[in-house]
Amino acid sequence: MALRCDLIIRDATIIDGTGAASRRGDIGVSGDRIVAVGDLGGASADREVMAGGKAVAPGFIDSHTHDDRAVLCGPACMTCKISQGVTTVVVGNCGVSLAPARFTNRPPPPLDLIGEDGWWRFDSFGDYAHELKKQGSEVNTYALVGHQTMRVEVMNGDVMRVANDAEIERMRLRVKQSLAEGASGFSTGLYYPLNMHATTEEVIAVAEPLRAYGGIYVTHMRDEADRVCASIEETLKIGDRVGCPVWISHHKCSMPENYGRSNQTLALIDAYAQSQEVCFDVYPYPAGSTVLMPDRLRDDVKVMITWSIPHPEMAGKYLSDIARGWNTDIRLAAERLLPAGQITFQMDEADVRRIMAHPMSVIGSDGIPHDAHPHPRLWGTFPRVLGLYARELRLFTLETAVHKMTGRPAAVFGMVDRGVIREGAYADLVLFDPNTVIDRATFENPKQESAGIEEVWANGVSTFVAGKGATGEKPGRLVTRGRA
Ligand code: ZN
Ligand code: CU
Repeated sequence: MALRCDLIIRDATIIDGTGAASRRGDIGVSGDRIVAVGDLGGASADREVMAGGKAVAPGFIDSHTHDDRAVLCGPACMTCKISQGVTTVVVGNCGVSLAPARFTNRPPPPLDLIGEDGWWRFDSFGDYAHELKKQGSEVNTYALVGHQTMRVEVMNGDVMRVANDAEIERMRLRVKQSLAEGASGFSTGLYYPLNMHATTEEVIAVAEPLRAYGGIYVTHMRDEADRVCASIEETLKIGDRVGCPVWISHHKCSMPENYGRSNQTLALIDAYAQSQEVCFDVYPYPAGSTVLMPDRLRDDVKVMITWSIPHPEMAGKYLSDIARGWNTDIRLAAERLLPAGQITFQMDEADVRRIMAHPMSVIGSDGIPHDAHPHPRLWGTFPRVLGLYARELRLFTLETAVHKMTGRPAAVFGMVDRGVIREGAYADLVLFDPNTVIDRATFENPKQESAGIEEVWANGVSTFVAGKGATGEKPGRLVTRGRA
């Protein structure tokens, strides 16, 4: 009997996510799974999409996000991602996760970057997972729980010190319970004041349950500037002592005096990779973004304001221009803008490219979804890698670019049956035009949909169609490490 599918995408250039060369063929989907790949000339389907030689890849995995709350608020928050072809996001990065924590007031920065008052109501990760299931989401969610979040709650805000034994034990139990309830790993943001007083030993103690649960340790390292190599060593030491894989977030060599040092950092990571499992993500821009921190400003590094509670009109303006207008220096101007967010032009494009081209790197946007004037990475990361870095600059092949957004992160994170196009895998798919795909978001005008992404499916359900936007469907699920 002839095969009957729910959906067949015909005559596509299939880029399967493994890094293998693309091939022409058809893809059959039934329910939430890919049921056939190849020549499906004898098969029929309820819906047939003619790709006309355009590319079909596994849906992109955004390996580094702060979408903990965005996944709960519908297309208004998630169009930035689904319009890029994203079907899975990793939340809870940089030590900042929405669960497990309950706060009645606005939490200190950078926790406030994912949610203000009212959003901090998940006493356990299980509560968050339950809410996600109830609300549904446009994308699949893979979650980490964050050290900053747990420190603020467990230490009752008194975080400018090492945690005591009782506090460490409470955080350790929080991690353990979260992993049992569907979280996949633990993250730190040791760079941030809320986290920086935690010693390596505190991190190792809190992260201990990762070994038994097969979880992953993900870190925004203590220092991405002068002491970046020491930070890499600390990260690998934590992974070794805990007995878990490690993931370095948004790898960079920050500040002008460290430009070019990615030669050293990548060699160091390569050396460790001989004996330990390690991965790192990178976003395709030479500027970072986080909350505004006046103490860390420098005169030789440009800063753009992304939001400000007392001065919302300053979003999108350079701090130096604001300071000039106020007749003051950048530090005092920054104090006046708090709480606020910043984009920092602190990287060298050559380092960004070297890190992106490294075979172990994967792509993560690090987009900050609730900023008034966000870094353009929120809307542009994936099409920019495909269109600018693969097609135009030929930094790597299109197949390699796709692998860094799909098969590789799925393998390291342990996302079973995702990130690849093959029979039996989940039907997370993106149809795009490899000749036109490109980002349109810029630093000046950051909330722009990309070009060339034609349709996106998660678990077999269409979530985004070019020209129409979000379909309103919410087929996304919680994805847990190592379990189908
Ligand atoms: Zn970070
Ligand atoms: Cu981040």
